[in-house]
Parts: sequence; structure tokens; C-alpha cells
Amino acid sequence: MSNDYLGLANNKEQFEKAVNLVREYESFAPKSSMLVGGYHRVHKIFEDEISTLNGFESAITVGSGFLANMALIESLVRKKDFLLIDEEYHASGIVALQMIDDRYMKFRHNCASDLRIKLLDIKRKLNPKRIIIAIEGIYSMSGDICTKELFDIADEFGAILIVDEAHSSGTIGGNLLGVFDYYGITPKANHIKMGTLGKAYGSYGAYILASRNIISFLENRAKSIIYTTSLSVFDTALALVNLRYIHENAKRINKEISDKINIANEILNIKTDSLIVPIKVKDNHTAIEFQKLLQSSCYLIGAIRQPTVNHPILRVILRCGVSTKSLKELFLIIKRLELKSI
Ligand SMILES: Cc1ncc(COP(=O)(O)O)c(C=O)c1O
Repeated sequence: MSNDYLGLANNKEQFEKAVNLVREYESFAPKSSMLVGGYHRVHKIFEDEISTLNGFESAITVGSGFLANMALIESLVRKKDFLLIDEEYHASGIVALQMIDDRYMKFRHNCASDLRIKLLDIKRKLNPKRIIIAIEGIYSMSGDICTKELFDIADEFGAILIVDEAHSSGTIGGNLLGVFDYYGITPKANHIKMGTLGKAYGSYGAYILASRNIISFLENRAKSIIYTTSLSVFDTALALVNLRYIHENAKRINKEISDKINIANEILNIKTDSLIVPIKVKDNHTAIEFQKLLQSSCYLIGAIRQPTVNHPILRVILRCGVSTKSLKELFLIIKRLELKSI
């Protein structure tokens, strides 16, 4: 059920590395906001390494993914701009819409043709100064990967593209860097990548990657970056050592991920490219019943119900570190439960 995709949340060696790293510094607390002395050496090292690895010009650490989405939407969508946002974008982005009045429209989930129609319409009627599009790399409930066409449309319309990679960074792509890596897209000046550190990176917090101009703008304009204490020093250090670990072990981790995906396909006939396996169940009640039964066999599975999703699902995470034996056993139990419930 957790988003600890790579099992780093209980990797003691990584924890020790982070502790030793923090020990090297005199100060180990962020103390204040980034602009007022809260910028620690560890923030700078993390930002340099994560932007270089991802091929972006610049980076900024943020207190959490929720704050990062608030920062992006509130500060980038100015008076004459317009935002097109996927209807299934995370709640943090949806809450942020309240701060930009009516300068936004939702488009159908992962639907390039709907986005194109709406963009043409908006251009004709409002002719906004800048267009901003917001999508996710992998959607947390369905495990869908965003379609590559959305990147092409952003280029075609000269739009800024925000990609929330909370669930895709660390889980897809040859170097496990997320959806840019997965599609082989080289980041450009119109691309913004936002990611969280509380999921595959086994820590807490978030980061934004973009051009130098955009990062400098966010640093000086985004309220949820300026008016809040900077990211915890220890969490940044833990994310840094885990970022290095994932990079050094990407090949081995990718092999484990594809082995797990194959097991889900073999037993449940579910094809997925991500570590999220959504298993549809009849109704909300069945979802809860299945969750309880699985819990009694020591499997902690998410029972995601309406209205959070259109159709209730069991959300199984193919977490690295879980043995093949346990995963097979879990899927066989689910298969038996599914047959009984029909
Ligand atoms: C897609 C997505 N974006 C943003 C967030 C918010 O990140 P955080 O938990 O770091 O606030 C989450 C989940 O927590 C998420 O799933």
C-alpha cells in the first residue's frame, strides 16, 4: 500500500550514510526559509546532483510535493496566462487552482485530442500570453503513464509543460529517472519536472527541476517556497544518498521491477509498465472486504474507493525487496477472491 516503491524506507545502510553525511556539518537544522539563511550546503549538493542527472539546468528543493504544486501553479499562472490541467491531477494541484481564479480548464485524463481541442479553443477565444499544461508522469491510482503526445502538443503550442513525477521518478526509465528518461525526451526550456522525495527516494520533501530562469523566478516569487522553513537537512541528506544509490543500482533494480511486472501479468493477466497494479473490484464494500482478508494474511493493500476513483480498486504496489514467493502468493489469493466474488 505504501509508496516506498524501492523498499528504501527500511534500508539501514542508507540511513547510516545519511547520518554520517549530516555529521560532517556544524548545523543540522534548516532554521529558516531558503531566502533568509535556511539554504544549507546539503540542499545545494542535492540540487546540483539531481539537476545534472536529469539533464535540467537548475533545481530547487521544496518542503513537500503539496507545496511544490502550490508553488508552481500559484506563481507561474499569471494574470494573462492560462492553465490546462489533467482532470486526474493530484489534489495538491487541484487545491492550487483556487489561487488562479478562472484561468484554468481541466482536460480529459491523458487525452491528447481533448487537450488539443481545448487549446485551440482557448487560443481563439482568449489568446493568453502564456499557456501552461500540467500532467503527471504516472498517475498514482491507475498506474497509467502519461502519453508522449502530450509533450509534442506542449511543443506545438509553445506551452510550458509541468510534469509531476511523484510516482514516476525512481520507478521507470533505463536510469530510473522517470518519464523523460522512459520516453528518451531531452529536457528543454519549456519543461518543468516536479518530484517528491517521500516515495521511491525513501525520504521526505520535494524538488522542482527547470531552466535557470524558471527556478530563479520560483525562488523569488512562489509563496510556498519563500514563506516556509526550507526542507529538513536530514531528509535532504537521505534523499541525496538514495538518489546516488538508485543511480548506481539502476540496472539491477530495473531487472527486479520487470520480473515483478511479469508475475502480475502471468497470474492476474494485468499488463502494467509501472509498479502500481490496480485490480478492479465489484464495489466499495468488496474492496474493503478484500483488504481485510488480505491483511489477515499479512498483506497490506490499498482499498481505493469511490469517489476517490471512478471504479473501486485494490492498489497493489510491486515493492522492491518483497520476495517473488510472497508476491506470487498474494496474487494467487487475489485471483481466488476475485473468482469467488463474481
Ligand atoms: C502525484 C502527487 N503529487 C504530489 C503529491 C504530494 O507530495 P507530498 O506527499 O510530498 O506532499 C503526491 C502525494 O503525496 C502525489 O501523489
